[in-house]
Amino acid sequence: MAWHPGANTPAEELILFAFIGSRHDLLAHLPRQSMSSIVEVGVCQGINAQWLLDHLQPDVLCLVDPWQAYATADTPFYYLDGPEVERFVEDYLGGPSDQQSTFDRLYEKTRDRFANDTRVIIHRKSSRQVAAQMDDKTQDLIYIDGDHSYEAVIDDLFRWESKLKDGGYLVLNDHVMNPSGSAKYGVVQAVGTFLRNRPEYHPIALNLSNYGDLIIGKKTGNHSALLTALVQSNKIVEIPDAILSNFHRRKSGDLSWLSFC
Ligand SMILES: C[S@@+](CC[C@H](N)C(=O)[O-])C[C@H]1O[C@@H](n2cnc3c(N)ncnc32)[C@H](O)[C@@H]1O
Repeated sequence: MAWHPGANTPAEELILFAFIGSRHDLLAHLPRQSMSSIVEVGVCQGINAQWLLDHLQPDVLCLVDPWQAYATADTPFYYLDGPEVERFVEDYLGGPSDQQSTFDRLYEKTRDRFANDTRVIIHRKSSRQVAAQMDDKTQDLIYIDGDHSYEAVIDDLFRWESKLKDGGYLVLNDHVMNPSGSAKYGVVQAVGTFLRNRPEYHPIALNLSNYGDLIIGKKTGNHSALLTALVQSNKIVEIPDAILSNFHRRKSGDLSWLSFC
């Protein structure tokens, strides 16, 4: 049965919305009044962190990133092919991802960006280290965009979910398969494993550009504010959650698009 604004949201009526727009267009529909504590795992130079701060206006924004060089230049970008990788790394990080100086610069940019904002706490540590120190049921939103390998995303999901308040949200960035199905880029597969093992969680919405941000919440949480805002946006299509794991990037020559087929 489909959900509609004003209806109660018992577990069996939760459905998945595909949202037509960017990740920030989607996240702008989160209820700002209940976003007081936010964590971002994987910060880079703080672009998304800045958006979270400006638009969701939390009391505390906890940023987690070791800012540590990767073992090889293409490690974080294994979902791209061939020469695309190098170009993307240069544009995105401002240097090779296997050099520590690149990550030191990104850390310094983030530190300088938030130097005068007492709401922001920066942890130059791994996701695992910070999760171990954090109390359970303290966070409204946990944005996961760190190491994108299957093993790391699984680790993030299972370590961070207990930190969520009951009505809180996990958001997974880059929830999309690459065309060649690289085993390393494992967000989709990790989410599948997580949802099978934690049936109390449900995928709520996925945006159809920017490589897909997926919002997950507890079935027992009250998500009426988010669902109402999404329905009223006129930018959603209801899709069966069974096809969630089919979401992937398709390519033909210079053309690239996202598809559920
Ligand atoms: C795609 S970037 C994050 C971009 C950022 N969320 C944004 O949208 O502006 C990925 C980041 O994850 C970080 N990272 C890698 N492994 C990590 C780990 N174990 N814990 C936390 N962050 C990690 C990398 O250092 C890198 O800065």
